[in-house]
Amino acid sequence: MKRRGGLARALLVALLALSPWGFDDAASSSRGDAASSDGREAAGLIRFRPRTSSSSSSSSSSSTLFALAAHDDVYSGGVITVDSRGNPVGDTVSAPARSMVGFVQDCVGIPPKNSGSLCGARGSYLHGHYLFVAATLQNAVTCVDVYRPDMPTIAGSVADRVNLEQVVATWMHRSEDYLVAVSRGKRPAGIGSVTLVDVRPARWSVDSSDRPIVSPVVLTSLKNCSSTTTVDGVRTTTGSLCGARAFAVKNDFAYVVGELSNSVVVVALPNALSDNPSLDAPVVRGFVNDQDMLKGAYAIAVSGTNAFVASRWDSDAIVLIDVLDPSNPTIGGKVPKVGQLGSFDTVVSMSEIQAASYTGSRLRGLEFVAKGVPAGSPYAFVTSEFDGRVSTVDARCVAASEEVGESVGYCASSARRALYDVDSPADEPYVYRSNARPNRALL
Ligand SMILES: *[C@@H]1O[C@H](CO)[C@@H](O)[C@H](O)[C@H]1NC(C)=O
Repeated sequence: MKRRGGLARALLVALLALSPWGFDDAASSSRGDAASSDGREAAGLIRFRPRTSSSSSSSSSSSTLFALAAHDDVYSGGVITVDSRGNPVGDTVSAPARSMVGFVQDCVGIPPKNSGSLCGARGSYLHGHYLFVAATLQNAVTCVDVYRPDMPTIAGSVADRVNLEQVVATWMHRSEDYLVAVSRGKRPAGIGSVTLVDVRPARWSVDSSDRPIVSPVVLTSLKNCSSTTTVDGVRTTTGSLCGARAFAVKNDFAYVVGELSNSVVVVALPNALSDNPSLDAPVVRGFVNDQDMLKGAYAIAVSGTNAFVASRWDSDAIVLIDVLDPSNPTIGGKVPKVGQLGSFDTVVSMSEIQAASYTGSRLRGLEFVAKGVPAGSPYAFVTSEFDGRVSTVDARCVAASEEVGESVGYCASSARRALYDVDSPADEPYVYRSNARPNRALL
């Protein structure tokens, strides 16, 4: 017993020496590393850097010990799990700590019924301290105020069963005039859409206790899918937005993947709202379909002139699309040749880990993690579809899940053991607002 404790402690000290959880931003991460054969080391986004003198976790109490990952066997059998390089995995000494900071739930019933503004919470986007959540089962976009990260509240919602049918993701346009919302449409037809939702200052007000609330308005919607079934039951879909499943926005373009149309479509967005519906309407600028490489495309990121797409073609690879010409996206991205300034290779696909060195994070497994969160934020936001919940969690938990390719779901689970103790976050920068109060649903 004693001996094992001593060993565990020694390993833990070694682990702490390795793990101040430093983040280097993706831009400064070395692309050379990405080519390394050790996948985990090459992960690009999250890198461990030597402890600086100001970082003093070795002297912190045992309640704030961090570890790479934890598995049940670490605790149950006294077995120490090691990774491929022989480093201990998991905190083998301290009591399990939580990563959940706070949450709001709005979906009633046990099991949750389809009633509440967060039922089916899926993709979300953080703008300031407002998180805009796609509530798939409600055909709604719901604004969650995370001003107090430990006590998020609902600040408004809009539902539209035609233009937000099974909405899956949102993104705040840089004009801050409108949200872009992508919907996949109900299966089997999957008539997806790209919809603009007005969130200009005129849509905001305060409630009786001075709490900001928003009444978003659906303005205009683009559909590009037609789906027909023959008498024999054979379904034919044409277009590029069938089963639209995920997207990224860069400047005034939305890059959307269609899961049922096996496509990437470039959608031109207005640079601001003009209140002229024909000027504000999003339009298809270009698209590429591929029954093979873009089969069941379900995640996308854009970096430089390339779009990076995760599809069912290969569960480990990312397909590159050249989007330099928005009207003519083509399979095969341009990647700088190593050591040859100004020359490029055309790359059709690369490993997901390599792609992460361009896009800043993996593509797969992050559908339920909010986008738009500033790098270095102590918090991440995780949605739970089944019970209609939005949780503030320690960003390190999400980073660790991503690093080891595990589901982020456990980060948002308060009942289950998670990795981090954030009961007393260091340098807590948030100012508590006296009028914050528990959520009430607005729908
Ligand atoms: C999709 O958009 C393209 C380009 O605007 C257009 O030619 C095509 O007819 C549209 N398809 C559907 C099904 O709406």
